Amino acid sequence: MAKKASAPKPVETLTLAQARKELTTLALQLATHDERYYQHDAPTISDADYDALRRRASEIEARFPELVTKDSPSQKVGAAPSGRFAKVAHAVPMLSLGNAFSDEDVADFVERVRRFLRLPADEMPVVVAEPKIDGLSLSLRYENGELVRGATRGDGTTGEDVTANVRTIADIPHTLKGANVPAICEVRGEVYIMTNDFIGFNKRAEKAGIQMAANPRNFAAGSLRQKDASITASRPLKFFAYAWGEMSAMPADTQFGMVAWMRRAGFVTNPLMRQCQSVEALLAFYREIAEKRASLGYDIDGVVYKIDRLDWQSRLGFVSRNPRWAIAHKFAAEQAMTVLNGIEIQVGRTGALTPVARLAPVTVGGVVVSNATLHNEDYIRAVGNDGNPIREGVDIRIGDTVVVQRAGDVIPQIVSVVLEKRPKDAKPYKFPQKCPACGSHAVREEGEAVRRCTGALVCPAQAVERLKHFVSRNAFDIDGLGDKQVQEFYEAGLVRSAADIFTLQKRDARSQTKLKDREGYGDVSIRNLFSAIDARRRIELHRLIFALGIRHVGEGNAKLLARHYGTLAAFVEAMRAAAEGQSEEGNTSEAYDDLNGIEGIGEVVADAVVEFFAEPRNIKALDDLLAEIEVLPAEQAAKDSPVSGKTVVFTGSLEKMTREEAKAMAERLGAKVSGSVSKKTDLVVAGPGAGSKLKEAEKHGVKVLSEDDWFKLIGVA
Ligand code: IVH
Repeated sequence: MAKKASAPKPVETLTLAQARKELTTLALQLATHDERYYQHDAPTISDADYDALRRRASEIEARFPELVTKDSPSQKVGAAPSGRFAKVAHAVPMLSLGNAFSDEDVADFVERVRRFLRLPADEMPVVVAEPKIDGLSLSLRYENGELVRGATRGDGTTGEDVTANVRTIADIPHTLKGANVPAICEVRGEVYIMTNDFIGFNKRAEKAGIQMAANPRNFAAGSLRQKDASITASRPLKFFAYAWGEMSAMPADTQFGMVAWMRRAGFVTNPLMRQCQSVEALLAFYREIAEKRASLGYDIDGVVYKIDRLDWQSRLGFVSRNPRWAIAHKFAAEQAMTVLNGIEIQVGRTGALTPVARLAPVTVGGVVVSNATLHNEDYIRAVGNDGNPIREGVDIRIGDTVVVQRAGDVIPQIVSVVLEKRPKDAKPYKFPQKCPACGSHAVREEGEAVRRCTGALVCPAQAVERLKHFVSRNAFDIDGLGDKQVQEFYEAGLVRSAADIFTLQKRDARSQTKLKDREGYGDVSIRNLFSAIDARRRIELHRLIFALGIRHVGEGNAKLLARHYGTLAAFVEAMRAAAEGQSEEGNTSEAYDDLNGIEGIGEVVADAVVEFFAEPRNIKALDDLLAEIEVLPAEQAAKDSPVSGKTVVFTGSLEKMTREEAKAMAERLGAKVSGSVSKKTDLVVAGPGAGSKLKEAEKHGVKVLSEDDWFKLIGVA
């Protein structure tokens, strides 16, 4: 933690001038911390310290109300920390489900229901089957159609009041739609997060060296239970409605009908939900969902079966805390215990040393797992891991028995160490100080969690990874030249640089040992490979820039650079000039200022690009490549379109274009596309289902267009 400054003066003793000065500083500090937290998920101070800053600002404002402006810290979203959440007693308890683990358990469930209801032998009750979302359940209370409270499940009887946070979730309507909305409605469902959003957060957290979330569920739970609603707002939480609590009237008399009503009322419901008429149909649904599981994009841990008729649900009632009318059919456990046989260090394209756990193979949720990510040195040593509810600061040692977890598509993780089983002679793991691939020194920059190999140009591991990146989908995207082939050609000495890819055919023609004679290849596959390579001799500028593998230059930054410089010649020329401007005191060249001034390109990126061009060996490699290919100029963004220079936000479900298309179209027209609405936003294009962003737009008085209006505006309609 940062050193504490000297104790602040008591607020009562401040003069107006002092108060004004301190408040200005506080507002700046808070804005900086907010940005680190919300936009980068990388806070640099503890919650407690942050709260203290906010409290101090509020105290000063309370004493000097004349200093309160609309930009004051207290006027921002989620200003005052709410401390503990208030308790909410659920009008109807939030119960849990009994479990079925086998086909027989499912058949037994249906049989129990039939016996209980005394259904004749030939009558099969209709059963609704749906995925069981692995999130956390939430109850939303609407009075006269307006959202009045959001509460977590808690112990089922009493939950926590998370209303302010719930209001920031786009999937949750603030007002129910439809003519006959019952005066009191409690809609219940699951808050969850898309796996990709979770992975994205963890990547940023890892880079920033801050604590990562163990799995999407924990991340969703942590995000919902934030004291500051604006943090929740910055996390892309989602919600599926599937159940209800207190209702002053029932809009339907079946489970399926109730969910259809929820959809009409404005909720998102799971599209996979289905009515089934036999045990076989339930089991077929279970298998279908199990197969789809990895591609759903969110975690599920089974399916739920519910008797469709609500009168039958009431008759069936509950046994202890579980309904007799529903059951969860769970997937096989997603955790398993195994032994850590070794730790292997992989060297990435940028020289990052990444430890990977080599495990005794074990089946986790139906998939054999033999590797798990260990992230970095600190993760193994459990440094900076305090408060991790799962690993609790315990280090990981070779020989340890560990619990491995798979969460959806996420790479398996070691979630805990079984300390009782730790071999007596197990030693703390010593992270290598040298690159295992080339022996160069591996160093950690200050404040970085990652240790990096310093042998950028001599390190074969980096070279292979760079080449894999070079041919990857968003770079050169060469058909038939994937990771495997790159590795093989590299090892065979056939492709050592990017240019080698394009001279492969020429060299092959002269060579005694032909590629087509290699194991696994033939005439056709090699001919196809050569034509795929030829097809990429003309390449868009942004793809080339991305392919170079410059640190911090992902696809987005590559596009910004391409659009700014227009042609390769202009880009290279400017970068050479900027590289020449480098000195001990920083970079004072005009070219550098121009680069750094590109909207969206910060100093870190600019420095990385200049560093790349300052290395003669990189220039040589690029020149060799350019002797083989032609780089197309970037599509210039239109300067005179009706939206050029405007900041546009797309929200809701667009019906005539995908999000990607919308973004590309707007960018082509010279607009900047943003993911969130602020007072800087010029236009919001809203499709059906638009939620909080629409509200934000209204708040800031931002113009809102329908998709059709948008097409009219840009002159396409
Ligand atoms: S129905 C009376 N449907 O599973 C119980 N629950 O083990 C009504 N869950 O606490 C719950 N997806 O958080 C139901 N499609 C779904 C579900 C689901 C996830 C969770 C829910 C509940 C837990 C019960």
